[in-house]
Parts: sequence; C-alpha cells; structure tokens
Amino acid sequence: MKRRTLGQSGIKASVVGFGAWAVGGWMWGGTQEKDSIAAIHAAIDAGISLIDTAPIYGFGRSEEIVGKAIHDCRDKVVLATKCGLVWHREQGEHYFNSDEDHPRQDASQYNVYRYLGPESIREEVEMSLRRLQTDRIDLYQTHWQEGTTPIADTMATLLKLKQEGKIRAIGVSNVSVAQLDEYRKAGVIDSDQEKYSMLHRAPESDLLPYCGENNIAFLAYSPLAQGLLTGKIGPDRTFAPGDQRNNSSLFSADSRQAISQRLEKFRPIAEAHGVTPGQLAIAWNLQQAGCSHALVGARTPDQARENAGAGDLTLTPDELNVMTQE
Ligand SMILES: NC(=O)c1ccc[n+]([C@@H]2O[C@H](COP(=O)([O-])OP(=O)(O)OC[C@H]3O[C@@H](n4cnc5c(N)ncnc54)[C@H](OP(=O)(O)O)[C@@H]3O)[C@@H](O)[C@H]2O)c1
Repeated sequence: MKRRTLGQSGIKASVVGFGAWAVGGWMWGGTQEKDSIAAIHAAIDAGISLIDTAPIYGFGRSEEIVGKAIHDCRDKVVLATKCGLVWHREQGEHYFNSDEDHPRQDASQYNVYRYLGPESIREEVEMSLRRLQTDRIDLYQTHWQEGTTPIADTMATLLKLKQEGKIRAIGVSNVSVAQLDEYRKAGVIDSDQEKYSMLHRAPESDLLPYCGENNIAFLAYSPLAQGLLTGKIGPDRTFAPGDQRNNSSLFSADSRQAISQRLEKFRPIAEAHGVTPGQLAIAWNLQQAGCSHALVGARTPDQARENAGAGDLTLTPDELNVMTQE
C-alpha cells in the first residue's frame, strides 16, 4: 500500500482510506456494528491506515464504531474526523432536518446547522475525542462551510487546538478556491476533501490543481460513486429503506445501464491486471494530477480488502486515457 504525506503535516497516510460514513448507518439503511468493526479491522490488516469519519455520520454512531474498532490499535491509524455540522446548537446556517434514518423536510429529531463558531468547535472536538476513545485527532476537517463565522476565527480555533495537541493537522471539505485562500491567509491547511470520481470530475478545473500547486493533500470522497463503479450494482439490486440510493437519479435504471456499459469497456484493462472494476476506479482517482488519497466506504471485510488492493495498482497512461473517455 502506497502512503503519501498529508500536506505539510509530516503525517503519512495510506493512499486508500477507509470512509466510515456508511458504517454509521444513517442514509445507508442502517448498520451492523459487528460487520462494521470487522470491516475496519480487515482494512487495517490490508494496509489501510487512514480512517475518515464525522460526527454527523449516524449522529455519533460512526465515530463510536470507529472508536471501538481502533481502541487496541490506535497507533496504526491516521484518524480523520470533522466539525461544522452540528445538532447540539441552533446557530449558523440551517442545513436540514433529520431523523435517525434520513433527512426530512419537517422538523424532526435533529435540526442540523452548518456552524464553525469557536465555542462550538471546542465542544465538538471534545465530543469526538470521547466517542473515538482517543486523546488526539490526526486530521481535523471543517465538513461544510458557512457564512456566519469569519474563516479567520475558525482557523484561529483550529490552530489553538493544534497547539494543545488535541488535533495534529487541519483540513477542509466542500470548499471553494476563495475559501481555501482565506483559510491559508490565517494558517496552514494540510488537506482538502471533495467529491471526485470518474463520474464527478468538477474538482479538475480548480481545486485539484490548486491543491497540487500548494502542497495540500486532496482526499477524494465517493470514489466508487457510492458503489456504482464496482460494477456490482445491477438492475435488480434494491436498497434498504432509508438508503439514500433509493432516491438518487444516479441509481435510476437508465443510469445503472449507462454506467455498466461504460465499465464493460474497461474489462480488458481489469483482466490484464487481474483486478476488479472497483479497484480500477480507485486507482484511476489516485493517478489523477493532484489527487493524493481516495476515501472509500466499505461495510464488510471483503469490500475493505478489495478496496485496499487498489493501493498497489499502477495503470499505464494509455489505460488511464481509455478510462477517462466518456
Ligand atoms: N466530506 C464530505 O462531505 C463527504 C461526503 C461523502 C463521503 N465522504 C467520505 O468519503 C467516504 C466514501 O464515500 P461514500 O461512502 O459516499 O461512497 P463510496 O466510497 O463511493 O461507496 C461506498 C459504498 O459502496 C459499496 N462498496 C464499497 N466497496 C465495495 C466493494 N468492494 N464491492 C461492492 N460494493 C462496495 C458499499 O455499499 P453497499 O455495500 O451498501 O452497496 C459502500 O458503502 C465516506 O465514507 C466519507 O468518509 C465525505
């Protein structure tokens, strides 16, 4: 498994990371704790050191599961979590309402706000440390951005947390280049986490080159397009109630068919390397300019092992070209 440094932090993390959104269950039709912990252990055994979670994933559930899974092997893990999506305060910008299963239009159990105010971040970091059963977070990222707190105030709080040893590196997610500039005027940013896959290439126009030029790790999220790029989601696959993929146009019958036809073109490349379409998709991400890491969700040990296998795969420029053509 290749490892790359997170920006200027000196922290090296496996290029394939374990994304822990789905193991939180919320928006993914529920979770099985035993399978989730086994998946995380399989990922670590297969060479994955980077684990990414967030308080909002299952309203604390994902962090709790990750905490249990890594309790006895904390030093093998580069632990990344986030702040800024809060339901313990009604401040900042209202984002959505939700129950335990999915976001809802009406007022529900949780009113979620985007909020990056200093006091709130301090409360969030303590809650995350408790759920994760650790005394330090290796990479702390602002999850979504908001317009009510000056970025300089957010950054000042993160820098203090770093001085105190509660966090080791600072990252952002779902930002614009202008927001990244603001953060960097006030401190050091080591990573940016953005949606990026063969099916979603928006960061190529600005954020990827920006990160490449400024020594910022780029962590691609949803690199398998929530499972579609594994080639295993056929027309008959159904999803549990509360799984966001039930309502996603990406998972419509037409879209599934179009993606499966596209994956068919990659079959000779997959066969030549003895790998799966999903491994190809992850490797494609990791060989794009500026993209240093791919955060891949998994809910079973087999999935985690398969995804980790992409960390050793190198594709030729010709193969990458074939895969890049739509
Ligand atoms: N910063 C942000 O705003 C943000 C947003 C989204 C995601 N993320 C991060 O990025 C991570 C990954 O993104 P994601 O979870 O949205 O999508 P993803 O990694 O593209 O897809 C994950 C899903 O694909 C299926 N899958 C994964 N490996 C598989 C395999 N080998 N074989 C068959 N199916 C497989 C699993 O679902 P099934 O088994 O149920 O089909 C899994 O839950 C998240 O966990 C999170 O850490 C961050």
